[in-house]
Amino acid sequence: MLTEDQAALLLEQSDVVAIPTETVYGLAARIDRPEAIEKIFRIKERPSFDPLIVHVSSIEQAKLYANEWTEIHQKLASQFWPGPLTLVVSKNDKVSTVITSGLDSVGLRYPQHLLTLSLINKIGVPLAAPSANKFGKTSPTTAQHVKESLPEVEILDGGDCKVGIESTIVSIQNGSSVKVQLLRPGMIQWTQIKEALSGFQVEFIDSNKKIMAPGNLEDHYMPELPLVLVETQVAKSELKFKIKEIYKKEFNNFVELILSKEAVIAARELYAQLRKLSQSQSDAIYFQVEEYMKNEDWLPIMDRITKASTFKI
Ligand code: TXA
Ligand code: MG
Repeated sequence: MLTEDQAALLLEQSDVVAIPTETVYGLAARIDRPEAIEKIFRIKERPSFDPLIVHVSSIEQAKLYANEWTEIHQKLASQFWPGPLTLVVSKNDKVSTVITSGLDSVGLRYPQHLLTLSLINKIGVPLAAPSANKFGKTSPTTAQHVKESLPEVEILDGGDCKVGIESTIVSIQNGSSVKVQLLRPGMIQWTQIKEALSGFQVEFIDSNKKIMAPGNLEDHYMPELPLVLVETQVAKSELKFKIKEIYKKEFNNFVELILSKEAVIAARELYAQLRKLSQSQSDAIYFQVEEYMKNEDWLPIMDRITKASTFKI
């Protein structure tokens, strides 16, 4: 485990470091160290078409990398930062296209974790960081998770992540009209974003309308044991037969993923639970979907669970 000074030194020397944020741990590199950026993609086995989020420690710093900063940018940043919101904005040439996968936009986030903010302040340069897991697998919410997923990586240990699932991603596109689009749901709700911008001339685009964030693939957040999403009322004793009938797969032992009814707590527990259950002596994990999970506060949790699941009955 690293001290802040050691982390700063490694980053200075073009290395990568795992950093805590309020959402999940990130695998960070300085945005002015191209070799380190490439190392992120290598260690994660991440396809180069999947852009990285740039983490800053102030709104002023975010503005240095944006092509333009309108009242809309300022409103969302001042209301939700520091916090679990990423703003995808038109970038300037201070951000390399290796970070943005060739896009002319950049995802900017001012996270709420004192250790990481202090590190970025010390360095004076933002940190590009995806979640600190192998591509497509469950994101880490503790330093121990990072160690299990990426054993070769040095870690700045900031304790357990308070939010537990990745940030809400919203893009702002300026043209003849301003378009604001939800690219990935998170614990900051789409309704909150729309309310914050209610005084502005904006066209809102929901994420259901196909164009999603690159890298936001159907198979993501996958635990080591297969996850079965149970949307109908099926007794545990029947699961085995249902799966065999539909998928021709033979599972004998199931373990249930049980989450708090409180969305905020459920989000915090989700990834740790998926990891823990993956280590049980079972063949598969199952999750029973309930009516209250259709509420907006559950949307980001259900998004992750759906993408993490392999079977649906
Ligand atoms: O909470 C989080 O956002 C965490 C912590 C570490 O900050 N980070 C995270 O990064 O979830 P990652 O790489 O797992 O997901 C970032 C996603 C990319 O897959 C992509 O979909 C989207 O952000 N993204 C980044 N830059 C983008 C851009 N310029 N345009 C559209 N989508 C972008
Ligand atoms: Mg990720």
